[in-house]
Amino acid sequence: MYSLARPFLFSLDAERAHGLGLSALDLAYRTGTTPLLAARIAPMPSTVFGLTFPNPVGLAAGLDKNGEHIDALFALGFGFVEIGTITPRPQAGNPQPRLFRLPAHNAIINRMGFNNDGAEAVLRRLVARAGGGGIVGVNVGANKDSEDRTADYVKLIETFAPVASYFTVNVSSPNTPGLRNLQQSAALDDLLARVIDTRERVRRNAGDSPVLLKIAPDLSLAELDDVVHVARSRRVDGMIVANTTLARPSTLREENRAKEQGGLSGRPLFRLSTRMVAETYVRVEGAFPLIGVGGIDSGGAALTKIRAGASLIQLYSSLVYKGVGLVDDIKRDLSSTLLRTGRDSLSEIVGADAATITAEDWPVR
Ligand SMILES: Cc1cc2nc3c(=O)[nH]c(=O)nc-3n(C[C@H](O)[C@H](O)[C@H](O)COP(=O)(O)O)c2cc1C
Repeated sequence: MYSLARPFLFSLDAERAHGLGLSALDLAYRTGTTPLLAARIAPMPSTVFGLTFPNPVGLAAGLDKNGEHIDALFALGFGFVEIGTITPRPQAGNPQPRLFRLPAHNAIINRMGFNNDGAEAVLRRLVARAGGGGIVGVNVGANKDSEDRTADYVKLIETFAPVASYFTVNVSSPNTPGLRNLQQSAALDDLLARVIDTRERVRRNAGDSPVLLKIAPDLSLAELDDVVHVARSRRVDGMIVANTTLARPSTLREENRAKEQGGLSGRPLFRLSTRMVAETYVRVEGAFPLIGVGGIDSGGAALTKIRAGASLIQLYSSLVYKGVGLVDDIKRDLSSTLLRTGRDSLSEIVGADAATITAEDWPVR
């Protein structure tokens, strides 16, 4: 079905197509036609960060920035949905155009810049669907013009604690100048100390929300050493590896659009982000689980990410190229791999290839 809609959507400006795609999704949900997509697949529950996920395939942050489509997205079969990035105050983001498709490479470049409705509006939406079920992660970030970025994260944890299944502390968007500096040791230590403190302070009234740290795939291995050290010492509940990359692999050299500023996602990100999952996994030594994200566009790619060290996976760009039926395709492939190999749960293969992957040549940056 998506193969019919795709040429039309691809003839439009990428951001306009994005909006239309989401409207179509909402319409399908309201008229009850999405369950036709969601075929019956054996459940693959797993308990990660103390939460029980019905299946390991999640929606990555950035598609539903304002929490407006959560139920329609769950109807597609996602095991969890991450909304955001949300900032305390509403923000327009960068001027358009700021979203670019690279169809020959199944890739996207974006420099959206945290366009979002702000905490108050999104909180209202989440409160309205409270009890609606499903694991909804809230991805938080700082306003571009904030004078105290750490205080922004603290405020957002306080605000969303009653409704967030988990939090993602996003210090890895390339489109807010200076944000990635929060990945540096001293700044990260201070940020995580205050975030975890806040979570502890509000947990009695608001319940317990795991805190995950989302990192860039562009960290050097020495920087990754420091990030994992701080994450472990501050006892975060997990990490998400990874956000979009500023790198442009040599395969994109001929591509004019690759010169656009912003973060690259989709297939060209797969090898680098998978390598970073494996590198993170060997450094974390089981202290907490990882979510693997970047270029997953098939059951095979999902499996590779899990074998690299991811307990759960997320996707975004591949939905644009392959359509929403991909969610069930991936689940079906994972489930049949379990059956074929006689395993009870995917957790048995998490990280199975991490050591091998970290010994390979570095993927072309
Ligand atoms: C248009 C677009 C907007 C995004 N916005 C966010 C965001 O607000 N916060 C965030 O943490 N990641 C954001 N991401 C990154 C994704 O969550 C994901 O980490 C990245 O795209 C790699 O996954 P993929 O290759 O499956 O797309 C965005 C990605 C895209 C393509």
